[in-house]
Amino acid sequence: RLWLDEQLLYTCAYFPVPDATLERAQVAKMDHVCRKLRLRPGDRVVEAGCGWGALALHMARHYGAEVKAFNISTEQIRYGRERARAEGLAGRVEFVEDDYRNIQGRFDVFVSVGMLEHVGKEKYAALREVIARCLRQDGGRGLLHFIGRDRVRPLNAWIRRRIFPGAYPPTLREALEGIFEPGGLSVVDDENLRLHYARTLEHWLGRFEGAVEQVRSMFGERFVRAWRLYLA
Ligand SMILES: C[S@@+](CC[C@H](N)C(=O)[O-])C[C@H]1O[C@@H](n2cnc3c(N)ncnc32)[C@H](O)[C@@H]1O
Repeated sequence: RLWLDEQLLYTCAYFPVPDATLERAQVAKMDHVCRKLRLRPGDRVVEAGCGWGALALHMARHYGAEVKAFNISTEQIRYGRERARAEGLAGRVEFVEDDYRNIQGRFDVFVSVGMLEHVGKEKYAALREVIARCLRQDGGRGLLHFIGRDRVRPLNAWIRRRIFPGAYPPTLREALEGIFEPGGLSVVDDENLRLHYARTLEHWLGRFEGAVEQVRSMFGERFVRAWRLYLA
């Protein structure tokens, strides 16, 4: 909350113009995702790894979708449910506290933003099976958004230990070979948002520095040094 946007997205934003605020860029990112998915009123959407719930609520409010959003974080699910109730969207957005591997039912759309890098390569087959069994066979659409790499190599040991425990950002080829090709999924679009991520980090760092005394008093100097290094 101290350095994210007001809706608490914590993945890369999308800057329609370089000087857009972080708030505007995160809304633009959600619209970008919805446009790529060709979201239509009445679409049944399943989201894997929904964070604090902003995208699920956005899809329901602005695109008329019915969303089931999965997440293993109790705190985030509770927050999402409260927002849905407060904003009159509880009938159209269901927040489910469960692992994405337990998704059941058929949907028009599968979306996941920022979860794949935490899934681990050894579980790509499981993710692929979930997508195959939950997407409707005729005309199902999906979007996987993840931090990737240009070359196969382990994540920097410091980042793995301090910031993203257990994470593995795949190359595009690894994602294609592990998920898309064996799943018979047709890739219609691929986009690299790296410069948008750099700008997002600039915003997060600016807000972090603005709140640094509060961050220090809450989490201590080691935390401040680690996050300053990561965000920079
Ligand atoms: C980097 S966050 C991204 C959150 C959100 N999509 C966003 O853009 O802000 C990754 C999310 O995936 C969730 N997650 C991680 N492993 C999961 C699993 N096995 N099943 C469901 N959700 C999972 C985390 O709790 C977290 O909410």
